[in-house]
Amino acid sequence: MSDHDAQSARIDSILTEDRVFEPPADFAAAAHVGSLDAYRAEHARSLADPEGYWGEAAQALEWFTPWTRVLEGGFPEPRWFPGARTNLCHNAVDRHVAAGHGEEVALIWEGEPAAAGTDGGPEVRRLTYAGLQRETAQLASALQRLGVHKGSVVTIYMGMVPELAIAVLACARLGAVHSVIFGGFAAHAIADRVDDADSRIVLTCDGAWRRGHVVPLKATVDEATTMTDRIERVVVLRRCANAVDMKPGRDLWWDDVVATGDPHFPCAPMESEDLLFLLYTSGSTGKPKGIRHTTGGYMVHTNLTARLVFDLRPDAGHVFWCTADVGWVTGHSYVLYGVLTNRVPTLMYEGAPNAPAEDRLWAIVARHRVTHFYTAPTAIRAFRKWGDEHPKAHDLSSLRVLGTVGEPINPDAWIWYRDVIGGGRCPVVDTWWQTETGGHMITPLPGATPTVPGSCTLPFFGVDAAIVNERGEELPHGTGGLLAIRRPWPGMLRGIHGDHGRFLTTYFKRIPGMYFAGDGARRDARGYFWIMGRVDDVINVAGHRLGTMEVESALVSHPAVVEAAVVGMPHELKGQGIAAFVTLKRGFDPSPALRAQLVQHVAHEIGAIAKPDVVRFTDALPKTRSGKIMRRLLRDVAAGQETTQDTTTLEDFSVLARLRAGDEE
Ligand code: WTA
Repeated sequence: MSDHDAQSARIDSILTEDRVFEPPADFAAAAHVGSLDAYRAEHARSLADPEGYWGEAAQALEWFTPWTRVLEGGFPEPRWFPGARTNLCHNAVDRHVAAGHGEEVALIWEGEPAAAGTDGGPEVRRLTYAGLQRETAQLASALQRLGVHKGSVVTIYMGMVPELAIAVLACARLGAVHSVIFGGFAAHAIADRVDDADSRIVLTCDGAWRRGHVVPLKATVDEATTMTDRIERVVVLRRCANAVDMKPGRDLWWDDVVATGDPHFPCAPMESEDLLFLLYTSGSTGKPKGIRHTTGGYMVHTNLTARLVFDLRPDAGHVFWCTADVGWVTGHSYVLYGVLTNRVPTLMYEGAPNAPAEDRLWAIVARHRVTHFYTAPTAIRAFRKWGDEHPKAHDLSSLRVLGTVGEPINPDAWIWYRDVIGGGRCPVVDTWWQTETGGHMITPLPGATPTVPGSCTLPFFGVDAAIVNERGEELPHGTGGLLAIRRPWPGMLRGIHGDHGRFLTTYFKRIPGMYFAGDGARRDARGYFWIMGRVDDVINVAGHRLGTMEVESALVSHPAVVEAAVVGMPHELKGQGIAAFVTLKRGFDPSPALRAQLVQHVAHEIGAIAKPDVVRFTDALPKTRSGKIMRRLLRDVAAGQETTQDTTTLEDFSVLARLRAGDEE
């Protein structure tokens, strides 16, 4: 077969991929939920009696004071488990120590440098529950001495090291609110988030290893301190022996700080609705929003979904590995809280998947006998491109369940994942959820749900998901519409920090009485959900959410730029890439050098993840008569398609014609 024939055959197989994969019988026989009937019965019960259902789910955790009710009120501001007190760190750590599991491994960590360990292999650290208890207590107590108290916001800007997990849990222990910022974001992003959250303290590292290089995190924090006056304290962990400037009176070394801490510092009793964390995520406007998550409901939701969606249990030899950075919600819920509250060891890997070589992740799976592997479609597409020889060189027989999250997965990548990584024997769970939902919302259960590649299948227990129109009317199966959630769930966001109005308009005003997710979707004849992607101005680049307006603001802050419009475009590996259309000020001429400068400028303003893949210079942007940029047209242009949109409102047809002709320089 020629390359071309092979490719057409592959495309045919994608288009005709409608196989259904039943859960393996032996897996189903031992699973928490072992059949579709069992799922359906439990789902019906959870909707018929949500308080009964979630009240029972909450019994899996420890509470210092019981709730007076399971659920009070409804959208937009339900209160879950009002009256109850608990602590997430207690449930993730101390509870297991008290029950006699203190010497069991809670966290396995592997560093990036391949030959830095004592045995000539990579550095590996294993922390037990007792160790985590000591370390979180010491750090929590030390933070308190630095003036951090219940409700203070602690900014965490660190690499994927065990101390990042310790920092997050120490905040929970103390009742401080963590605001983790992904280490790939730039100084402006830190300063904006610090200001928005009114955070006075930043925890960081001298650097982070990434593909053999040191990412200078502390230097980026230093830059951020020139953009905001709020940062009074910076605590710096030594990780890379990277030289850093330490400002006297402001900057402290982690070890010195922790040395002052009390290793017996207790977990603070927190009200169920006390704020647990802020996590900033992109929306339709230029400014990222601080999603507010509270304690009790989030704990119950992440604990239950981790257990049922991955079929986790303690004492079963499970090792759970979610490859997400703790800087994203997936890392919060399924590197840390959901997994640790189930007393299953969680694995953290510090570096890049191709450092030092493209088999690194499979070496880790084999070395630590990983049983559960959870990653993003964009990563799966990269693994596949790198070649089957890499996974095939390692023993992956420990794997039991594979998961994906973050973007729609193309069926051929799904099949590859199942066959090549899962050896054809592991159920694949395609989990749909969001920063705002806290935990999984629509997902297969591995022992119960027959899977169809590309579909996230059916709603989790207690989740009332529907495809509706703008009036909230449910649409018939097969029809595309808006994905809405019709009743509150425990892990849901409790607001946007400092912007109640935006919270209401973004999520609750578009469809009356429902939570609007921002995604378009449809259901098929079996009732399975298929996510079609964002219907707002958010793009999903390599599984990371970015607002087109954020990138536009970064571009127009460059002295050469008058106006910019940013849209998503199809990208083979990243799912979506970023296309920027830019008009220049008088005196600036389009050139490859300027294009490179603009890309660098965006990386400097936001972070490398926001770098446009394509920058096109244009004399003018296509606008409606009322002056709105016609993004749909630009999306078509970026995708290289002939536009089928109605263009009668175009102010200047020649603009579109020129863009299409690609005569941008
Ligand atoms: C998208 C990540 C298709 C979706 C946990 C959502 C998905 C956004 C899936 C949230 C999936 C997430 N299939 N699309 N399984 N999971 N998405 O907040 O567009 O970073 O709205 O949360 O990712 O991204 P976020």
